[in-house]
Amino acid sequence: MVNIERLSTGIPELDKLISGGIPKGFFIALTGEPGTGKTIACIHFISQGIKDGDKCIYVTTEESASSIITQASQFNINFQKAIQENKLIIIDALMGKEDEWSLKSLEIEELINKVIEAKKKLGYGRARLVVDSLSAFWLDRPAMARRLSYYAKKVLSKWDFTVYGTSQYAISTSEAFGWGVEHIADGIIRFRRVVRHGRLHRYLMIEKMRQTEHSLYMYEIEIVDRLGIVILGPISERKEDYALPKKVKDRMIEAKEKGSDEIGGEEFDS
Ligand SMILES: Nc1ncnc2c1ncn2[C@@H]1O[C@H](COP(=O)(O)OP(=O)(O)OP(=O)(O)O)[C@@H](O)[C@H]1O
Ligand SMILES: [Mg+2]
Repeated sequence: MVNIERLSTGIPELDKLISGGIPKGFFIALTGEPGTGKTIACIHFISQGIKDGDKCIYVTTEESASSIITQASQFNINFQKAIQENKLIIIDALMGKEDEWSLKSLEIEELINKVIEAKKKLGYGRARLVVDSLSAFWLDRPAMARRLSYYAKKVLSKWDFTVYGTSQYAISTSEAFGWGVEHIADGIIRFRRVVRHGRLHRYLMIEKMRQTEHSLYMYEIEIVDRLGIVILGPISERKEDYALPKKVKDRMIEAKEKGSDEIGGEEFDS
């Protein structure tokens, strides 16, 4: 069997779900509703890249570069230092600033030119790129999603990049915004959220990972101060049964028997 070089995601339990990591050169789509952990997963991926000596580029369209640096620092990750040491470049597409590493428009060509310029500055060698979010580049033309993401993937693959691109889910329809990216992607990590009994729960699932034997389960995750994403465990039972105190479970069963079957939240189990 051909031995595949894999890059750690920076979340050890997640690496275990995908046979050790992301195959080098892959283009991974991270999709999910707001606040489900996509940006934090990107921060882990870049943090690991810095540790592994990869050239790292983080493109941010939803938050400013300084917001990303602050968020990372809450998980004991020092992006400021990595920037000073020429290991990381954050490209800011939000603030419309005039400096070297800002994008003036959300055009895919401008993004790619800027990323290549950044790669040249960082030097030769294995590289990691995050585009958070990629769907921002076709906000005003969703029909172009597939073509634009295909173009980005083709160009970037020549530059030794392994790529994370985030895309949002339309909350109302639960459809991926800019659906094209999921077919182009070599892998899909899907984030979800559910409110169950008045508490927010978050989940992650590997929906696709080419050339990889991967877990088929949905995992509950927790975002923890100073640590970041922690994977709690697979959801193997009905979601109502999972990790709830007996008292709560009993009340839910009671409610069910009375005929009100769902106590709030999205249904994802059959
Ligand atoms: N220091 C922290 N400690 C605990 N939880 C935190 C901390 N920082 C952020 N979070 C949690 O992480 C959430 C944000 O996650 P993240 O930014 O990765 O979401 P996202 O999927 O990128 O959302 P969007 O699509 O809106 O960008 C916050 O809403 C909060 O619940
Ligand atoms: Mg985000």
